[in-house]
Amino acid sequence: MTITEAPVSAPESESTRGRRVAVVTGAAGGIGLAIAERLAHDGFAVAIIGRTPGTAAAAAEGIIAAGGDARGYDADVADRDQVDAALAAIRADLGPISVVVANAAVAPQQSFLEMTLEQWNTVLGINLTGTFNTVQACLPDLISAGWGRVVLISSSSAQRGAPRMAHYAASKGGQMAMTKALAVEFGKQGVTVNTVAPSSVDTPSVAKKRAAGTIPSADDMAKYIPVGRVGIGEDIAAAVSYLVSDEAGYVTGQTLSVNGGSFIG
Ligand SMILES: NC(=O)c1ccc[n+]([C@@H]2O[C@H](COP(=O)([O-])OP(=O)(O)OC[C@H]3O[C@@H](n4cnc5c(N)ncnc54)[C@H](O)[C@@H]3O)[C@@H](O)[C@H]2O)c1
Repeated sequence: MTITEAPVSAPESESTRGRRVAVVTGAAGGIGLAIAERLAHDGFAVAIIGRTPGTAAAAAEGIIAAGGDARGYDADVADRDQVDAALAAIRADLGPISVVVANAAVAPQQSFLEMTLEQWNTVLGINLTGTFNTVQACLPDLISAGWGRVVLISSSSAQRGAPRMAHYAASKGGQMAMTKALAVEFGKQGVTVNTVAPSSVDTPSVAKKRAAGTIPSADDMAKYIPVGRVGIGEDIAAAVSYLVSDEAGYVTGQTLSVNGGSFIG
């Protein structure tokens, strides 16, 4: 008897076979890059989305050089067409998505009384609507597979406030509320949704604010943090690594505050 092979669809590449695909937005640098590096280390094929053309590809090259699997895609998360185009390319290159980490954000400081509607809309458009665009575009893959992980990177600013950052705090509070809503909407479909709320994490964008004197030095901040230091991207990445694992399947709708024990209330 002759056994003929069933026709197959496009063959998976050697590098992506058997791997889950994780999308991380705003991951060309800072916390997002630390998350992308950690998820690549954990065995995911990581799709990095960056806004500035070429930066995501450069970040992916660094991960590949370290032995991981990653590709970079350019998209402004506030622009749904760009997000959809990036997701189409990711699916074609790597396959269906299992994990989405909405990390891209801007954090300008502007007095509330002087804040223009345009400034308000820009921050909400990137941080909150960008999260909506990214998560909604990815979710069908997670639901089809009956397994998925969504992690939103929010902020302690939504838990305890932040002067001159009403738009930012509101956008991050919106992510926390969205986390709970999506957790109850998609729990029965195998998808967990959580948020990680960092507080003070050393990243290039924070270093710029320090250099401009708009936030205190790392040493001054550390005095008010119970563990005695500001955070690093790897602290946040470790929390994300847990939340996207199989073992975290009974954890959903939660805000995990990764802040060195800083008072939240
Ligand atoms: N660093 C901290 O102390 C801290 C504290 C609390 C929360 N957070 C949150 O952590 C996340 C990462 O912060 P970070 O400190 O690494 O900041 P960052 O500015 O270094 O990184 C943000 C990334 O998002 C990208 N981005 C911005 N707008 C985008 C857009 N429209 N489309 C696509 N990408 C876009 C930027 O290019 C950048 O790479 C953010 O969500 C931030 O709100 C950071």
